[in-house]
Amino acid sequence: MTTETKPLPDWNNPAAAQWITCPPLGGARSVPPAVYYRRSFQISGALPARAVLHITALGLFDCEINGRRVGHDVFAPGWTDYRIRVHYHSYDVTDLLLPGENVIGVILGDGWYSGHVAEKDRQLYGEQPALLASLENVSGSTPVVLAATDADWVRSLGPILENDLLMGEAYDARRELGAWSSPGFNAGNWTPVLILDSPAISIERSPGPPVRRHEILPGKLLAGDAEVAGPQRIRRFDFGQNLTGRVRIRVSGPRGLNLRIRHAEFLKPDGSLYTENLRTARATDHYTLKGGGLEEWEPRFTFHGFRYCELVWQDVGSNPFIESVEGVVIHSDTPRTGHFACSHPLLNQLASNILWGQKSNFLEVPTDCPQRDERLGWTGDAQAFIRTAAFFMDVRGFFHKWLQDLRDAQSADGAVPPVIPQTHSFGLPGDGGPAWADATFICPWAIYLCYGDSGILREHYPSMVRYLDYLAEYKVKNHIRMHPDIVEADSLWGGFGDWLALDGSGRTEGGTPKDLIGTAFYAHGVDIAEKTAELLGYEADADRYRKLHGEIVDAFIARFTTPAGHVIGGTQTGYVLALHFNLVPEALRVSAAKELVRLIVRNDYHIGTGFVGTPYIQHVLEATGHLDIAYKLLEQETFPSWLFPVKNGATTIWERWDGWTPEKGFQDVGMNSFNHYAYGAVGDWMVSTVAGLQFDPAQPGYGHIIFKPRPGGTLTWAEARLRTPHGETSIRWELKDASLLLDLVVPKGATATLDLPRPWNSPRAQLGAGAHRLTLTSA
Ligand code: BGC
Repeated sequence: MTTETKPLPDWNNPAAAQWITCPPLGGARSVPPAVYYRRSFQISGALPARAVLHITALGLFDCEINGRRVGHDVFAPGWTDYRIRVHYHSYDVTDLLLPGENVIGVILGDGWYSGHVAEKDRQLYGEQPALLASLENVSGSTPVVLAATDADWVRSLGPILENDLLMGEAYDARRELGAWSSPGFNAGNWTPVLILDSPAISIERSPGPPVRRHEILPGKLLAGDAEVAGPQRIRRFDFGQNLTGRVRIRVSGPRGLNLRIRHAEFLKPDGSLYTENLRTARATDHYTLKGGGLEEWEPRFTFHGFRYCELVWQDVGSNPFIESVEGVVIHSDTPRTGHFACSHPLLNQLASNILWGQKSNFLEVPTDCPQRDERLGWTGDAQAFIRTAAFFMDVRGFFHKWLQDLRDAQSADGAVPPVIPQTHSFGLPGDGGPAWADATFICPWAIYLCYGDSGILREHYPSMVRYLDYLAEYKVKNHIRMHPDIVEADSLWGGFGDWLALDGSGRTEGGTPKDLIGTAFYAHGVDIAEKTAELLGYEADADRYRKLHGEIVDAFIARFTTPAGHVIGGTQTGYVLALHFNLVPEALRVSAAKELVRLIVRNDYHIGTGFVGTPYIQHVLEATGHLDIAYKLLEQETFPSWLFPVKNGATTIWERWDGWTPEKGFQDVGMNSFNHYAYGAVGDWMVSTVAGLQFDPAQPGYGHIIFKPRPGGTLTWAEARLRTPHGETSIRWELKDASLLLDLVVPKGATATLDLPRPWNSPRAQLGAGAHRLTLTSA
């Protein structure tokens, strides 16, 4: 009988189970073994009609019942601030149970709980992983516990000699335990577990999706380096795609031979792996063969960011036979929803790179990068990319979960840290500052717009209010956020600026004044808070924020714009923010936009924005009548531009516009990721404007679709397809002879408006559900 479709019951009483653990293994910088736990129990009489396993860990769990793996989740229960909460998973395990003796076995890995996180020493949350589980017969009206974690469990070490998310995993197949999670196994030499005092944290089901394994990409043996002289042998493989995950090998060879598997995103000119940018992340796995036939192995408790790997071993006269080397792609289970394509092959590769940047960094939290010793939930990156993310994949649950993490991380005085979960890394300040901390407005608002989910606003509104109170108290003077008077007087840090902008300033933080960025995002945040308050029916708040917004706009205009329509600082980002957030007097918009265009032309049609300006620049150019300039930036192939990395073989989005250049080679190894999604934020514009698929903010979640194609540049066709909450919608346009051909699909229950650029005219502007084909001629 299959019970898969029935919803899983909640874990009503986790307190009835006991946390089990073992004495701490390893210290601040070591890489310790994973521990195996098991318990045998009897089922006498009939098997339960339905049995559910509720399970969680401080650390990572991998569970087996009677020798069979439970579920398909990876890195469960995921990453939360374990000092505050941990998520549990529930599985229907009815089909795994047997009459008589049954065994539940769990391997616990360090994961984020006690492994390395970013640059820090190990054991950020606790010294040693612990397990809490309850296997329940839920056939009747009250659940009956069949086996729960308690003092009757036993533990042992096994083949996983080292496990760490950043450092890698070491597996000695000679130490495999056999049928350790099956009945009849002799666990006589296993050791009793320790009982851990229950931590005072909340234990709840995750609002987000689990992490899963996805594509498997074959590794191609690179020619030329198959044999290396000397006792060390190397085989290098290329997966053809920068990815996050790990390597699965199928090999045979002598017992005791150790294979070292190293990972890298790039090769150096001599063909060796470029690993300098990994910083302290060892990103190396080890497999020791047991011998006697084909062996297959994939690590369990680690992941790496890589396109290439190499297998290294000592030649002791007898070499292994390598049957296959595959890349296993791992990310949160956010189903694919959106597709984009057009007539320009490099832009299609860019779209693919954006999607892969997302796959590579949406792993439990939206991380900055998957490879170096960082992999943190950077707020600035997440807010820049969220609209693009919400097109390519269903990230609604993912952001519900991360915004809960954000609320957990918000300090008592209301500050929103730069990385979430809060890890206090790199001596970072408590407040993420402009654009970064503003994820607390931008992310819930984006999820509302893209999915029509007002629940997320209700959940998150108090955090917005607390953050605005915090700003008013500590970071704002005369409506100017990061006003130099406060910053200087309190030796405050002014924010990350326009991070990594190549705007001629020569500074990592770019040249846009920090009080300008601060005040622009302050206005934007207050605007979102006002709209949210209005939607939720908090009239008084809405009025207060409306008034405040007006005051901030006035203060911005007075301080940062000139009567001639200049924006002080003279950076692309300064103009972009002022125009996008409506901080320029209406009468001066045209001249301000002209100045922005001048800056771009003077820069020979190259982008000069960093993390802060990049998501908006294309929107601003289109909205102010400079579509041609936007296309010039989009199609620009020389650096800095979106297509420069594509031209140079990138398969993901680079952290820096100049991560690698022919003239200078690799950028500073201290910060040079080739898999950062922030600049992929242009994906939102490619979909909404190049293809022309938009939601209507007045009817979010694509209840009312706006088809607004803006053909331009060298493109002859473009298309976007999206699975919306109402069903699939799509648009395809093609320029053919003197006509514009349009294919549009409006899902059931939705309506659409067609908004065409000159010179095209349509007899119909309003469209109902169904497929529509229009051939338009210029008026
Ligand atoms: C991260 C970023 C982040 C930035 C902020 C970097 O180390 O990788 O993506 O936004 O720091 O300063």
